[in-house]
Amino acid sequence: MPQLRFQDKVALIAGGTGALGRAVAAAFAREGARVIVTYRRQPEFDAFVSQQQGSGPGVTGVMVDATDAGGVARMLEGILSNGGMLDILVNTIGGYHGGKRIWEEDLSSYEQMMSLNLKAGFVLARAVIPAMIRQGRGWIVNVASRAGYGQSPGAALYAASKAGALALFDSLAAEVKSFPICVNSVVPSIFDTPANRQAMPAADYASWPKPEEIAEVILFLCSQQARIIHGAAILVYGRT
Ligand SMILES: NC(=O)c1ccc[n+]([C@@H]2O[C@H](COP(=O)([O-])OP(=O)(O)OC[C@H]3O[C@@H](n4cnc5c(N)ncnc54)[C@H](OP(=O)(O)O)[C@@H]3O)[C@@H](O)[C@H]2O)c1
Repeated sequence: MPQLRFQDKVALIAGGTGALGRAVAAAFAREGARVIVTYRRQPEFDAFVSQQQGSGPGVTGVMVDATDAGGVARMLEGILSNGGMLDILVNTIGGYHGGKRIWEEDLSSYEQMMSLNLKAGFVLARAVIPAMIRQGRGWIVNVASRAGYGQSPGAALYAASKAGALALFDSLAAEVKSFPICVNSVVPSIFDTPANRQAMPAADYASWPKPEEIAEVILFLCSQQARIIHGAAILVYGRT
């Protein structure tokens, strides 16, 4: 039987019950990783687990708000207790808000975008890096967005939060350059999710990348073969 690619790895998938997070968690589980997903709603996690029966050593979940540093620290303590390891962090947490120009926006939308798209990644990364340094290995992938490169009229807060995330993880990559830890971002444009199909019923879905295709890129970034990719932002726009 061929060796599975992530047989000896533990992967934390933040936002693992979301559209992309589910595909990433399922792909790691299929490749033999022990997968821990964060979630906020129990029924979503239960539905995800029931689809995963029989694939790999299994998926466990932790209900946590990833913007809560105390909750994330407790989650890490649990993962690392009794000699546990954490090899991989993939942050798929994020959310979109748009439709207003900057001068029409309110402060709560600003806080929400920064919290979801920037703070969650910061809280998670600062929690896992010390363990990865101690272990002498680690891989981090943050999911950004094409909007982070700017020119997003009507979605400036989303764009700014994703630009912040790109800069945060790029800077983190520079900070861990002397450790065997890979830090990268993937940068999707629109991809094929039930929410996007519902929001854009007349769109040509065929041209949208599938979450499973983006997940494959993320798995590659977390593999030994991608060791030389560090501090990169990999565009996964497909033909959109
Ligand atoms: N969909 C697209 O076309 C698109 C395009 C470009 C970039 N992206 C980015 O790709 C990533 C994944 O997108 P997606 O469409 O898969 O999103 P999604 O389906 O909405 O999933 C996001 C997940 O994050 C979770 N989450 C939100 N806030 C959280 C918090 N504070 N703590 C813990 N979990 C939290 C959500 O849980 P709840 O369900 O409980 O809220 C959900 O499971 C995001 O970063 C998004 O910005 C998406």
